[in-house]
Amino acid sequence: MPGDPCLVTGAAGFIGAAVCGSLLNTGQPVVGVDNMNAYYDPALKQARIRQLETDPSFLFCRLDLTDQAAVEQLFGEHRPPTVIHLAAQPGIDRSLTDPMAYVQSNLVGTMNVMEQSRINGVAHLVYASSSSVYGANSRLPFSVHDPADHPVNLYAATKRANELMAHSYSHLFGLPTTGLRFFTVYGPWGRPDMAYYRFARAMTGGEPINIYGDGTQGRDFTFISDIVDGVVKVSRQPPSPNAAWNPAESDPASSRAPFRLYNIGQGDLVTVNELADHLEAFLGVKADRRYQPARPADMTVTQADVTDLRDDTGCCPRTKFDVGIKTFAQWFLDYHR
Ligand code: NAD
Ligand code: UGA
Repeated sequence: MPGDPCLVTGAAGFIGAAVCGSLLNTGQPVVGVDNMNAYYDPALKQARIRQLETDPSFLFCRLDLTDQAAVEQLFGEHRPPTVIHLAAQPGIDRSLTDPMAYVQSNLVGTMNVMEQSRINGVAHLVYASSSSVYGANSRLPFSVHDPADHPVNLYAATKRANELMAHSYSHLFGLPTTGLRFFTVYGPWGRPDMAYYRFARAMTGGEPINIYGDGTQGRDFTFISDIVDGVVKVSRQPPSPNAAWNPAESDPASSRAPFRLYNIGQGDLVTVNELADHLEAFLGVKADRRYQPARPADMTVTQADVTDLRDDTGCCPRTKFDVGIKTFAQWFLDYHR
Protein backbone atom coordinates (compact mmCIF):
# COMPACT_ATOMS: atom_id res chain seq x y z
CA MET A 1 0.00 0.00 0.00
CA PRO A 2 1.71 3.30 -1.10
CA GLY A 3 1.96 6.10 1.52
CA ASP A 4 1.05 6.01 5.20
CA PRO A 5 -2.44 4.63 5.69
CA CYS A 6 -5.10 6.17 7.85
CA LEU A 7 -6.59 3.57 10.22
CA VAL A 8 -10.40 3.71 10.41
CA THR A 9 -12.19 1.49 12.93
CA GLY A 10 -15.84 0.62 12.37
CA ALA A 11 -15.15 0.71 8.62
CA ALA A 12 -18.13 -1.50 7.80
CA GLY A 13 -20.43 0.76 9.78
CA PHE A 14 -22.65 3.55 8.50
CA ILE A 15 -20.32 6.45 9.31
CA GLY A 16 -17.06 4.48 9.04
CA ALA A 17 -17.73 3.31 5.48
CA ALA A 18 -18.64 6.83 4.38
CA VAL A 19 -15.49 8.26 6.01
CA CYS A 20 -13.32 5.59 4.32
CA GLY A 21 -14.93 6.39 0.95
CA SER A 22 -14.25 10.08 1.34
CA LEU A 23 -10.60 9.54 2.37
CA LEU A 24 -10.03 7.18 -0.56
CA ASN A 25 -11.48 9.79 -2.93
CA THR A 26 -8.75 12.20 -1.84
CA GLY A 27 -6.07 9.59 -2.58
CA GLN A 28 -5.53 8.68 1.07
CA PRO A 29 -4.80 4.95 1.60
CA VAL A 30 -7.01 3.44 4.29
CA VAL A 31 -6.81 0.40 6.53
CA GLY A 32 -10.37 -0.34 7.66
CA VAL A 33 -11.15 -2.48 10.69
CA ASP A 34 -14.43 -4.05 11.76
CA ASN A 35 -15.61 -7.20 13.54
CA MET A 36 -18.75 -7.40 11.32
CA ASN A 37 -20.98 -8.16 14.31
CA ALA A 38 -24.68 -8.94 13.88
CA TYR A 39 -26.16 -6.04 15.89
CA TYR A 40 -27.91 -5.29 12.60
CA ASP A 41 -27.93 -7.14 9.28
CA PRO A 42 -24.26 -7.99 8.49
CA ALA A 43 -25.20 -8.13 4.78
CA LEU A 44 -25.44 -4.33 4.83
CA LYS A 45 -21.98 -4.13 6.41
CA GLN A 46 -20.61 -6.55 3.81
CA ALA A 47 -22.14 -4.49 0.99
CA ARG A 48 -20.43 -1.35 2.31
CA ILE A 49 -17.06 -3.17 2.47
CA ARG A 50 -17.51 -4.58 -1.04
CA GLN A 51 -17.89 -1.05 -2.37
CA LEU A 52 -14.74 0.13 -0.56
CA GLU A 53 -12.74 -2.85 -1.79
CA THR A 54 -13.13 -1.69 -5.39
CA ASP A 55 -10.40 0.84 -4.50
CA PRO A 56 -6.93 -0.79 -4.35
CA SER A 57 -5.88 1.73 -1.68
CA PHE A 58 -8.34 0.15 0.77
CA LEU A 59 -7.32 -2.78 2.95
CA PHE A 60 -9.92 -4.46 5.16
CA CYS A 61 -8.95 -6.21 8.40
CA ARG A 62 -11.66 -8.15 10.17
CA LEU A 63 -10.87 -8.13 13.86
CA ASP A 64 -12.43 -7.45 17.22
CA LEU A 65 -10.98 -4.44 19.01
CA THR A 66 -11.47 -6.15 22.35
CA ASP A 67 -8.73 -8.60 21.27
CA GLN A 68 -5.66 -6.88 22.69
CA ALA A 69 -3.10 -9.03 20.86
CA ALA A 70 -4.85 -8.52 17.50
CA VAL A 71 -4.94 -4.73 17.96
CA GLU A 72 -1.26 -4.74 18.92
CA GLN A 73 -0.40 -6.66 15.75
CA LEU A 74 -2.58 -4.37 13.61
CA PHE A 75 -0.83 -1.20 14.79
CA GLY A 76 2.62 -2.80 14.62
CA GLU A 77 2.01 -3.85 11.02
CA HIS A 78 0.54 -0.61 9.66
CA ARG A 79 1.96 2.14 11.93
CA PRO A 80 -0.82 4.60 11.06
CA PRO A 81 -0.05 8.29 11.74
CA THR A 82 -3.78 9.02 12.02
CA VAL A 83 -6.45 6.88 13.64
CA ILE A 84 -10.17 7.54 13.21
CA HIS A 85 -11.89 5.39 15.80
CA LEU A 86 -15.58 4.96 14.96
CA ALA A 87 -16.19 1.34 16.01
CA ALA A 88 -18.61 1.07 18.91
CA GLN A 89 -21.74 -0.57 20.15
CA PRO A 90 -24.22 2.21 19.31
CA GLY A 91 -27.94 2.67 19.96
CA ILE A 92 -29.84 3.43 23.13
CA ASP A 93 -32.26 0.48 23.39
CA ARG A 94 -29.68 -2.29 23.57
CA SER A 95 -27.84 -0.57 26.43
CA LEU A 96 -30.83 -1.46 28.63
CA THR A 97 -30.80 -5.16 27.77
CA ASP A 98 -27.13 -5.89 27.01
CA PRO A 99 -24.95 -3.39 28.90
CA MET A 100 -21.84 -5.58 28.64
CA ALA A 101 -21.75 -5.15 24.85
CA TYR A 102 -21.17 -1.41 25.50
CA VAL A 103 -18.54 -2.06 28.15
CA GLN A 104 -16.68 -4.43 25.82
CA SER A 105 -16.67 -2.49 22.54
CA ASN A 106 -16.83 1.08 23.85
CA LEU A 107 -14.57 0.85 26.90
CA VAL A 108 -12.28 -2.16 26.39
CA GLY A 109 -12.09 -1.71 22.59
CA THR A 110 -11.41 2.02 22.88
CA MET A 111 -8.77 1.39 25.55
CA ASN A 112 -6.93 -1.01 23.22
CA VAL A 113 -6.99 1.59 20.41
CA MET A 114 -5.79 4.34 22.74
CA GLU A 115 -2.99 2.28 24.24
CA GLN A 116 -1.67 1.20 20.82
CA SER A 117 -1.94 4.81 19.62
CA ARG A 118 0.30 5.83 22.52
CA ILE A 119 2.80 3.00 22.00
CA ASN A 120 3.06 3.60 18.24
CA GLY A 121 3.33 7.41 18.46
CA VAL A 122 0.10 8.15 16.57
CA ALA A 123 0.03 11.84 15.59
CA HIS A 124 -3.75 12.22 15.93
CA LEU A 125 -6.45 9.99 17.40
CA VAL A 126 -9.94 11.12 16.37
CA TYR A 127 -12.83 9.24 18.00
CA ALA A 128 -16.61 9.26 17.88
CA SER A 129 -18.46 10.65 20.84
CA SER A 130 -22.17 11.43 20.87
CA SER A 131 -24.80 14.10 21.47
CA SER A 132 -26.14 11.68 24.07
CA VAL A 133 -23.38 12.74 26.50
CA TYR A 134 -25.45 15.90 27.17
CA GLY A 135 -28.02 13.64 28.88
CA ALA A 136 -30.11 15.57 31.40
CA ASN A 137 -28.53 18.91 30.43
CA SER A 138 -31.39 21.12 29.17
CA ARG A 139 -29.45 24.24 28.11
CA LEU A 140 -29.91 24.57 24.33
CA PRO A 141 -28.15 24.52 22.00
CA PHE A 142 -25.74 22.02 23.56
CA SER A 143 -22.29 23.55 23.85
CA VAL A 144 -19.00 21.69 24.28
CA HIS A 145 -18.21 24.27 26.96
CA ASP A 146 -21.13 23.15 29.14
CA PRO A 147 -20.87 20.25 31.59
CA ALA A 148 -21.97 16.83 30.31
CA ASP A 149 -22.00 14.81 33.49
CA HIS A 150 -25.54 13.46 33.70
CA PRO A 151 -25.93 10.72 31.07
CA VAL A 152 -29.41 9.14 30.95
CA ASN A 153 -28.29 5.78 29.53
CA LEU A 154 -25.22 3.55 29.64
CA TYR A 155 -24.35 4.14 25.97
CA ALA A 156 -23.95 7.85 26.77
CA ALA A 157 -21.92 7.05 29.87
CA THR A 158 -19.45 4.97 27.82
CA LYS A 159 -19.11 7.79 25.25
CA ARG A 160 -18.43 10.35 27.98
CA ALA A 161 -15.96 7.90 29.54
CA ASN A 162 -14.11 7.76 26.18
CA GLU A 163 -13.66 11.53 26.33
CA LEU A 164 -12.26 11.35 29.85
CA MET A 165 -9.97 8.43 28.94
CA ALA A 166 -8.72 10.44 25.96
CA HIS A 167 -7.97 13.43 28.17
CA SER A 168 -5.87 11.36 30.52
CA TYR A 169 -3.78 10.07 27.56
CA SER A 170 -3.43 13.54 26.04
CA HIS A 171 -2.30 14.85 29.42
CA LEU A 172 0.04 12.05 30.43
CA PHE A 173 1.55 11.04 27.09
CA GLY A 174 0.94 14.07 24.87
CA LEU A 175 -1.26 11.95 22.56
CA PRO A 176 -3.24 14.44 20.42
CA THR A 177 -6.93 13.43 20.64
CA THR A 178 -10.13 14.92 19.26
CA GLY A 179 -13.58 13.70 20.30
CA LEU A 180 -16.48 14.38 17.93
CA ARG A 181 -20.00 14.49 19.34
CA PHE A 182 -22.18 13.45 16.41
CA PHE A 183 -25.87 14.41 16.44
CA THR A 184 -28.39 11.76 15.18
CA VAL A 185 -26.82 10.92 11.84
CA TYR A 186 -28.99 9.83 8.90
CA GLY A 187 -28.66 9.23 5.18
CA PRO A 188 -28.06 6.59 2.48
CA TRP A 189 -26.43 3.36 3.74
CA GLY A 190 -27.81 4.30 7.18
CA ARG A 191 -28.32 2.31 10.36
CA PRO A 192 -31.35 -0.01 10.40
CA ASP A 193 -31.84 0.28 14.20
CA MET A 194 -32.47 4.04 14.05
CA ALA A 195 -35.94 5.63 13.91
CA TYR A 196 -35.74 6.92 10.30
CA TYR A 197 -34.71 3.49 8.97
CA ARG A 198 -37.10 1.53 11.20
CA PHE A 199 -39.97 3.77 10.11
CA ALA A 200 -39.09 3.47 6.40
CA ARG A 201 -38.88 -0.32 6.66
CA ALA A 202 -42.17 -0.64 8.56
CA MET A 203 -44.03 1.80 6.31
CA THR A 204 -42.95 0.16 3.06
CA GLY A 205 -43.63 -3.29 4.55
CA GLY A 206 -47.20 -2.42 5.53
CA GLU A 207 -46.38 -2.53 9.25
CA PRO A 208 -47.26 0.04 11.94
CA ILE A 209 -44.54 2.33 13.29
CA ASN A 210 -43.96 2.65 17.02
CA ILE A 211 -43.55 6.20 18.28
CA TYR A 212 -42.23 6.47 21.84
CA GLY A 213 -44.02 9.12 23.89
CA ASP A 214 -46.10 11.68 22.01
CA GLY A 215 -43.55 12.09 19.20
CA THR A 216 -42.75 15.70 20.11
CA GLN A 217 -39.21 14.83 21.19
CA GLY A 218 -36.82 16.73 18.91
CA ARG A 219 -33.61 15.69 17.22
CA ASP A 220 -30.88 17.64 15.48
CA PHE A 221 -30.79 15.23 12.51
CA THR A 222 -27.44 15.56 10.73
CA PHE A 223 -26.83 14.35 7.19
CA ILE A 224 -24.05 11.81 6.67
CA SER A 225 -22.01 13.91 4.18
CA ASP A 226 -21.82 16.78 6.69
CA ILE A 227 -20.53 14.38 9.35
CA VAL A 228 -17.96 12.94 6.94
CA ASP A 229 -16.81 16.41 5.96
CA GLY A 230 -16.28 17.27 9.64
CA VAL A 231 -14.46 14.03 10.47
CA VAL A 232 -12.06 14.32 7.51
CA LYS A 233 -11.29 18.01 8.13
CA VAL A 234 -10.77 17.51 11.86
CA SER A 235 -8.55 14.46 11.25
CA ARG A 236 -6.11 16.70 9.36
CA GLN A 237 -5.88 19.17 12.24
CA PRO A 238 -4.36 17.60 15.36
CA PRO A 239 -5.09 19.75 18.43
CA SER A 240 -2.39 21.74 20.22
CA PRO A 241 -2.37 22.39 23.94
CA ASN A 242 -4.56 25.38 24.81
CA ALA A 243 -2.20 27.71 26.70
CA ALA A 244 -5.14 29.93 27.70
CA TRP A 245 -7.01 27.07 29.40
CA ASN A 246 -7.78 28.04 32.98
CA PRO A 247 -7.87 25.12 35.47
CA ALA A 248 -9.97 27.21 37.86
CA GLU A 249 -12.76 27.35 35.25
CA SER A 250 -12.23 23.82 33.97
CA ASP A 251 -13.80 24.27 30.50
CA PRO A 252 -14.46 20.68 29.32
CA ALA A 253 -13.84 21.39 25.60
CA SER A 254 -10.05 21.80 25.69
CA SER A 255 -7.12 21.62 28.06
CA ARG A 256 -3.45 22.36 28.53
CA ALA A 257 -3.03 18.94 26.93
CA PRO A 258 -3.47 18.41 23.14
CA PHE A 259 -7.15 17.57 23.57
CA ARG A 260 -10.33 18.90 21.89
CA LEU A 261 -14.02 18.17 21.77
CA TYR A 262 -16.36 19.34 18.99
CA ASN A 263 -20.05 18.98 18.27
CA ILE A 264 -21.02 18.03 14.72
CA GLY A 265 -24.70 18.78 14.23
CA GLN A 266 -26.87 20.62 11.75
CA GLY A 267 -28.60 22.89 14.27
CA ASP A 268 -32.29 22.57 13.26
CA LEU A 269 -34.84 20.69 15.34
CA VAL A 270 -37.12 18.06 13.84
CA THR A 271 -39.64 16.11 15.93
CA VAL A 272 -40.25 12.38 15.58
CA ASN A 273 -43.78 13.17 14.32
CA GLU A 274 -42.26 15.43 11.62
CA LEU A 275 -39.80 12.66 10.70
CA ALA A 276 -42.80 10.39 10.00
CA ASP A 277 -44.50 13.19 7.99
CA HIS A 278 -41.44 13.59 5.77
CA LEU A 279 -41.11 9.85 5.18
CA GLU A 280 -44.80 9.66 4.23
CA ALA A 281 -44.20 12.35 1.61
CA PHE A 282 -41.04 10.84 0.12
CA LEU A 283 -41.95 7.14 0.35
CA GLY A 284 -45.50 7.77 -0.80
CA VAL A 285 -46.96 5.63 2.03
CA LYS A 286 -49.19 6.62 4.94
CA ALA A 287 -47.73 5.68 8.34
CA ASP A 288 -49.88 3.70 10.77
CA ARG A 289 -48.67 5.48 13.93
CA ARG A 290 -48.82 3.56 17.21
CA TYR A 291 -47.93 5.68 20.22
CA GLN A 292 -46.03 3.77 22.92
CA PRO A 293 -44.94 4.78 26.43
CA ALA A 294 -42.01 7.24 26.52
CA ARG A 295 -38.64 5.66 27.29
CA PRO A 296 -36.71 6.85 30.38
CA ALA A 297 -33.42 6.44 28.48
CA ASP A 298 -34.56 8.90 25.78
CA MET A 299 -33.45 12.53 25.55
CA THR A 300 -36.32 14.93 24.93
CA VAL A 301 -34.34 17.20 22.66
CA THR A 302 -30.87 17.56 21.10
CA GLN A 303 -29.44 20.58 19.30
CA ALA A 304 -25.81 21.37 18.49
CA ASP A 305 -23.86 24.56 18.92
CA VAL A 306 -21.09 24.18 16.30
CA THR A 307 -19.33 27.51 16.87
CA ASP A 308 -16.01 25.88 17.81
CA LEU A 309 -16.07 23.46 14.89
CA ARG A 310 -16.78 26.30 12.45
CA ASP A 311 -14.16 28.63 13.97
CA ASP A 312 -11.39 26.01 14.12
CA THR A 313 -12.01 24.05 10.91
CA GLY A 314 -14.29 26.17 8.72
CA CYS A 315 -16.65 23.21 8.64
CA CYS A 316 -20.38 23.76 9.08
CA PRO A 317 -23.09 21.12 8.54
CA ARG A 318 -25.73 22.68 6.32
CA THR A 319 -27.85 19.97 4.67
CA LYS A 320 -31.49 20.80 5.41
CA PHE A 321 -33.59 17.92 6.72
CA ASP A 322 -36.11 17.92 3.86
CA VAL A 323 -33.27 17.56 1.34
CA GLY A 324 -31.36 14.91 3.31
CA ILE A 325 -34.35 12.73 4.18
CA LYS A 326 -35.50 12.75 0.56
CA THR A 327 -32.04 11.50 -0.45
CA PHE A 328 -32.30 8.76 2.19
CA ALA A 329 -35.80 7.74 1.02
CA GLN A 330 -34.63 7.49 -2.60
CA TRP A 331 -31.65 5.36 -1.58
CA PHE A 332 -33.86 3.19 0.67
CA LEU A 333 -36.33 2.44 -2.12
CA ASP A 334 -33.53 1.69 -4.53
CA TYR A 335 -31.48 -0.49 -2.17
CA HIS A 336 -34.44 -2.55 -0.94
CA ARG A 337 -36.06 -2.93 -4.36
P1 NAD B 1 -22.49 1.36 13.09
O1 NAD B 1 -22.99 0.36 14.06
O2 NAD B 1 -23.07 1.39 11.73
O3 NAD B 1 -20.90 1.25 12.97
C1 NAD B 1 -20.08 0.79 14.02
C2 NAD B 1 -19.22 -0.36 13.49
O4 NAD B 1 -18.34 -0.77 14.52
C3 NAD B 1 -20.05 -1.59 13.09
O5 NAD B 1 -19.82 -1.92 11.73
C4 NAD B 1 -19.58 -2.68 14.04
O6 NAD B 1 -19.55 -3.96 13.41
C5 NAD B 1 -18.21 -2.18 14.45
N1 NAD B 1 -17.80 -2.66 15.79
C6 NAD B 1 -18.52 -2.61 16.93
N2 NAD B 1 -17.83 -3.15 17.94
C7 NAD B 1 -16.62 -3.55 17.42
C8 NAD B 1 -15.48 -4.19 17.96
N3 NAD B 1 -15.43 -4.56 19.25
N4 NAD B 1 -14.44 -4.44 17.14
C9 NAD B 1 -14.47 -4.09 15.83
N5 NAD B 1 -15.54 -3.50 15.26
C10 NAD B 1 -16.61 -3.23 16.04
O7 NAD B 1 -22.68 2.79 13.80
P2 NAD B 1 -22.47 4.27 13.22
O8 NAD B 1 -23.79 4.94 13.24
O9 NAD B 1 -21.68 4.22 11.97
O10 NAD B 1 -21.62 4.91 14.39
C11 NAD B 1 -20.21 5.14 14.27
C12 NAD B 1 -19.76 5.83 15.54
O11 NAD B 1 -20.44 7.07 15.71
C13 NAD B 1 -20.02 5.02 16.80
O12 NAD B 1 -18.96 5.23 17.69
C14 NAD B 1 -21.30 5.64 17.36
O13 NAD B 1 -21.39 5.48 18.74
C15 NAD B 1 -21.07 7.10 16.98
N6 NAD B 1 -22.31 7.89 16.85
C16 NAD B 1 -23.23 7.59 15.88
C17 NAD B 1 -24.36 8.40 15.76
C18 NAD B 1 -25.42 8.14 14.74
O14 NAD B 1 -26.46 8.83 14.77
N7 NAD B 1 -25.23 7.21 13.79
C19 NAD B 1 -24.53 9.49 16.60
C20 NAD B 1 -23.58 9.75 17.57
C21 NAD B 1 -22.45 8.96 17.68
C1 UGA C 1 -29.02 8.14 17.86
C2 UGA C 1 -28.18 6.86 17.76
O1 UGA C 1 -28.99 5.70 17.83
C3 UGA C 1 -27.13 6.81 18.83
O2 UGA C 1 -26.24 5.75 18.53
C4 UGA C 1 -26.39 8.12 18.81
O3 UGA C 1 -25.38 8.16 19.72
C5 UGA C 1 -27.33 9.28 19.02
O4 UGA C 1 -28.21 9.27 17.91
C6 UGA C 1 -26.62 10.60 19.03
O5 UGA C 1 -27.02 11.52 18.33
O6 UGA C 1 -25.69 10.75 19.80
P1 UGA C 1 -31.26 8.79 18.89
O7 UGA C 1 -31.12 10.24 18.60
O8 UGA C 1 -32.02 8.44 20.12
O9 UGA C 1 -29.85 8.08 19.02
O10 UGA C 1 -31.83 8.15 17.56
P2 UGA C 1 -32.97 7.08 17.29
O11 UGA C 1 -32.71 5.82 17.99
O12 UGA C 1 -33.15 7.07 15.83
O13 UGA C 1 -34.26 7.78 17.98
C7 UGA C 1 -34.70 9.08 17.62
C8 UGA C 1 -36.01 9.35 18.33
O14 UGA C 1 -37.01 8.50 17.77
C9 UGA C 1 -35.99 9.03 19.82
O15 UGA C 1 -36.73 9.99 20.51
C10 UGA C 1 -36.65 7.68 19.93
O16 UGA C 1 -37.32 7.46 21.15
C11 UGA C 1 -37.64 7.75 18.80
N1 UGA C 1 -37.98 6.42 18.25
C12 UGA C 1 -37.00 5.54 17.89
C13 UGA C 1 -39.30 6.09 18.08
O17 UGA C 1 -40.21 6.88 18.41
N2 UGA C 1 -39.61 4.88 17.54
C14 UGA C 1 -38.65 3.98 17.16
O18 UGA C 1 -39.00 2.89 16.65
C15 UGA C 1 -37.31 4.33 17.32
